[in-house]
Amino acid sequence: MNSQVLREARIYEEVAEQVIDREDRPLFHLCTRTGWMNDPNGFSWYQGKYHLFYQYYPYSTRWGLMHWGHAVSTDLLHWTYCPAALAPDQVYDKDGCFSGSAVTLPDGRQLLMYTGVSCDQKAFGERTEIQTQCLAVGDGVNYEKYEGNPVINGDDLPEGASRNDFRDPRIRVREDGTYDAYIGSRPEDGSGQILLYRSTDGFRWHFEKILAANRGRFGKMWECPDFFPLDGKWVLLVSPQDMLPVDYEYHNGNGSLCLIGSCDETQIDFREEANQAIDYGIDFYAAQTVEAPDGRRIMIGWMQNWDTVAPHAARMKWYGQMTLPRELSVRNGRLYQWPIRELEDLRGDKAEHVLDDFTGSISFPDVKGRTIDLQVEIEPAHRDRMYHKFTLRLAKDEQFYTTLSFHPSENILKIDRKFSGSRRAIIHQRRSKINTENGRLDLRIILDRYSIEVFVNGGEYVLTMVIYTDLCADGIEFLADGNIRMHIVKYDITSEF
Ligand code: FRU
Repeated sequence: MNSQVLREARIYEEVAEQVIDREDRPLFHLCTRTGWMNDPNGFSWYQGKYHLFYQYYPYSTRWGLMHWGHAVSTDLLHWTYCPAALAPDQVYDKDGCFSGSAVTLPDGRQLLMYTGVSCDQKAFGERTEIQTQCLAVGDGVNYEKYEGNPVINGDDLPEGASRNDFRDPRIRVREDGTYDAYIGSRPEDGSGQILLYRSTDGFRWHFEKILAANRGRFGKMWECPDFFPLDGKWVLLVSPQDMLPVDYEYHNGNGSLCLIGSCDETQIDFREEANQAIDYGIDFYAAQTVEAPDGRRIMIGWMQNWDTVAPHAARMKWYGQMTLPRELSVRNGRLYQWPIRELEDLRGDKAEHVLDDFTGSISFPDVKGRTIDLQVEIEPAHRDRMYHKFTLRLAKDEQFYTTLSFHPSENILKIDRKFSGSRRAIIHQRRSKINTENGRLDLRIILDRYSIEVFVNGGEYVLTMVIYTDLCADGIEFLADGNIRMHIVKYDITSEF
């Protein structure tokens, strides 16, 4: 039986989604059905479809009492909304159903594990937030909260761990059919750690060990863990809060972190070998992955960041979208990301240009648009003469544009959305150091109306940001200071939606 709170959300979203024009939404990225979206949750393959749940507040374009929104897809590009899956309707989750994950039970039902939040109101307005881990079981549309909730609570924490910062369970089915859950936690030193819990049936859980600890290195609390084997290594993804910058790798604020290491499947004794940012752009957080039926590990993230959520364009009736799903691989100790190959099926008109010796500025009548897949390869036109700077202006009209610029002398790639229509003093620029030689740059850029995702060197680096520019700004300009050889291939993304 659905609660009143859930029934109301389901009725509300059906009506509210109708006031949003299809044209105002991204074409092939999932955005909230209505109101507000943050983290991806329960990213899974279930009953022949991908399911993606998300942190959801249907009633406003600001964060509020968290529900779980829900959408399904067969290609991760065409999404169909399902009714809201979870609402904050129990004592233990009355202040929010926070992030979590999904697995399939042996009997064919889908098991969701999420964080239930309930606040104690104390004297003088003081609040303590208690976070526990809860279950809901369902059929892909309706989910019933488990009567034994919460299944993991403050009594199951290791010594010193906070009861207030204990969230975002990520369940994984092990090879032997038992379950692991990786959960974000804050130890006494105030930084983050990931706790490992185990279960034989998915319902009764015990604390096993600390999987990985921040030890003051990467920001503070670690949110939204994901942990999986890939290409002979094990990968731990987390979203650290309150980062300090480290060179061009990590930036101030809420960030994204990938730890690559080795691990024994039975012991789960993760030994870190390398670390890197997941995304080097501005708007990326809370990544989660799914293993596709064909074995691909596919990642999706919230295409926003808590440090930049302030600007709400007044006319926008929704807030929050996901990144493009990305195929992951580990190569030479690094995480690589590439747009899911399904996107290639949606390619429409193609334009191609090769300029052997180009300097100055150029635009092409057939290279423009706001829903495009654009590839640009550049190198110096003359071996003995390095160019000074290459610049690409996207989503451009007389007043607005968003810039990507590359300085080969320093190998610095900069994204800049200062002139993309934002009226807020938030971060608009970011520089990253690219591993490249001799002025060669290989870019694949995906534009989907209000977002730009830049895949560099075959996915060795990715830079993601949202933009605010009106859709009529669809020009693209190429500028070279010095002489370059340039190869451009552009496809429109135009499939029937
Ligand atoms: C990360 C996060 C999670 C939490 C959720 C609440 O973006 O803070 O830790 O579960 O958002 O909406």
